[in-house]
This record gives sequence, C-alpha cells and structure tokens, in this order.
Amino acid sequence: MKGIILAGGRATRLRPLTWVISKQLLPIYNKPMIYYPIETLTRAGIKDILIILAPENAGLFLNLLGTGDQFGVHFSYVIQKEPKGLGEAFILGEDFLDNDNVTMALGDNIFDEDFSKQINSFKSGGQIYVKKLDRIEEVRRLGVVEIDKNNKVLSIEEKPEHPKSMYVSTGLYTYDSRVVEIAKNLKPSARGELEISGNPSISNTFLESGELKACVFDSYWQDAGTFDSLLEAGNHMAEKEKLAKKI
Ligand code: G1P
Repeated sequence: MKGIILAGGRATRLRPLTWVISKQLLPIYNKPMIYYPIETLTRAGIKDILIILAPENAGLFLNLLGTGDQFGVHFSYVIQKEPKGLGEAFILGEDFLDNDNVTMALGDNIFDEDFSKQINSFKSGGQIYVKKLDRIEEVRRLGVVEIDKNNKVLSIEEKPEHPKSMYVSTGLYTYDSRVVEIAKNLKPSARGELEISGNPSISNTFLESGELKACVFDSYWQDAGTFDSLLEAGNHMAEKEKLAKKI
C-alpha cells in the first residue's frame, strides 16, 4: 500500500491567508496542516508517500518535509501545474504507484483516528471513510454517501443541493491499482474536474461494479478549508493537547 497526499490547489476560499503561502502550510494550533495527513497515513503503516504540490510553494514543502527521515518514511514529490480535480492525483502518481494499491489523504483533512485496521484489511476495489454530520449546510458542501444498515453504499453524490443522507465521504480514499486506468478514462464533471465522489467519478466507478465499501467512523474530523473550520480545527487540537498535558 502506497500513500498520496494531495496538497495542490490555490485555496482561493482562504485568501488573503493563501496569497503567498499554501493552505497546507498554515498552522493547526502548533503544527503545519500537512502534518495531519502525514500522520493519518504513517499511523496506518504507510511508508512510501507521494506529495502532490502546486508549483508556487513547492520549495517550502521540500524545506519543511525533506526526504521524510524525520517521520521515518520516504517522501516523493510531484507538481500539479493546474488543479484539474482530485482524480488527477492518480494520473500524476502513475509511475510512483507502479501498480500498487493506494490510500490518498487530502492535505487539508484533519483526522484523529487510527485507520490501520481498515487500511490493512483492504483487499480490492474502493474503500471510503464516512462520517455522519449534524448540519445539512455542511453536508451540502461535501461528497454525500447514502448507505444501508449494513454500511453498503447505495449512492454517492458531490455537493448535492438535496442530500440523500447525512453521511459524508471524508478526504481519505483507498483504491486498488485499477484506479490509475479509471482516472485516465474518467470524463470531467459539469464543473470541469476529474471527480472523486461525483458522477462520473472514481468512487462511482467502483460503486457501479459493486466494489465500493464504506468504513463509518465517529471520531473527530474536519476539512480545514474555510476560515471557520480552520479555526475550529486549531481550537480542537489546542484543547486536546492541554487535556493530554493535564493527564
Ligand atoms: C473534497 C471532495 C468531497 C469530500 C471533501 C472532504 O471536496 O470533493 O467529496 O467530501 O473533499 O474534505 P473539497 O473540499 O475539495 O471541495
């Protein structure tokens, strides 16, 4: 199992914070944001990780992360010239993946969970990590997953106006090696992107062949891509650290 962290994009929603620095280098309390997806993957035992970067600030990431020695892993880097959707990651990662299975973590997703069991027991197809949210406004700006009582995926839609469920697909995805060919053959969506959760999309392709599994979890999760969620994630981690110190 190899890992990919997608840390490209322009993060226009976070301007002016992101005019001269990447979103994934902004602080979440006492760490740069990208430390979180690194921890999500390394905690699951993934040691070979490709980091996808926008050209503007690639040097800063190299300065910060280097070879990966300090994390006990190996980092490779690739530049995404133009953000063309999350699905493009697997095309950019083709040589790196070299027919291995992959878990991709989005660079702005903050988890506080050990997914080793789910990732290590993965065999084939696609596996998404799904959480039930409380607020419909939040659900509307994410990938929405409809599941039955056995956690079987019934449908997956990107940012629907009328969500069919309150379960969302978080920014962590495990796919088998077919994902590269699927990404290459994917048509861009209405908004012109190679989607991961929309229609057409990578996860939908695995769903159509009955090979998409949902792992439901209930621990902390945040997509730190807006001012409020960035602040919330920082506050959450600050509280967590203070509590740990007290104990
Ligand atoms: C992306 C995905 C969406 C997913 C979300 C998780 O959305 O397209 O399906 O729920 O990440 O963070 P974005 O945040 O890029 O709009």
